[in-house]
Amino acid sequence: MTITSAVYPGSFDPITYGHIDIVRRAKKLFARLLIAVVANPNKTPFFSIEERVAITKAALDEVGITGVEVISYDGLLIDCAKAYKVDAIVRGLRANSDFDYEFQMALTNRDLDSDIETVFFMTAGRYSFLSSSIVKEVKRYGGDVSSFVPGCVEQALARKFGH
Ligand code: PNS
Repeated sequence: MTITSAVYPGSFDPITYGHIDIVRRAKKLFARLLIAVVANPNKTPFFSIEERVAITKAALDEVGITGVEVISYDGLLIDCAKAYKVDAIVRGLRANSDFDYEFQMALTNRDLDSDIETVFFMTAGRYSFLSSSIVKEVKRYGGDVSSFVPGCVEQALARKFGH
């Protein structure tokens, strides 16, 4: 079987240029790519799941990425992959510190369904430090995040922080 479709899951709280870089590159590999904004009970999200979906769609629009479906999912990632009939899960890897968690997730997901492969993309060097948490922290104190996120994301952060 040739893998043609993939889901790129995450909290996307909010989406950053690091995520967008992975989307652009994954799009070249997979004929069908979905972004799944996943409700992650291990984290208390800053934006609601509806807000994260809307912001993710607006960000893709702003940077001119078309043909990527954005969905939300509350449940096991592997069930999301099956429900949407995709063959692979895409994840980005930044530094070494991501590895243990990603390895654990990939092996768990493979155990749950060995037909669905996890495919990793190495982050672009310039985004290797970037995370949604860092963006929120900088913006909370009024810092400039324009090199980290598209304008619509920056505006959503500003509104939420009441700037
Ligand atoms: O952007 P994040 O927070 O690193 O994404 C983590 C996410 C949402 C992909 C992960 O927590 C997840 O898959 N959650 C769904 C629940 C699940 O399937 N857990 C078992 C996988 S080990």
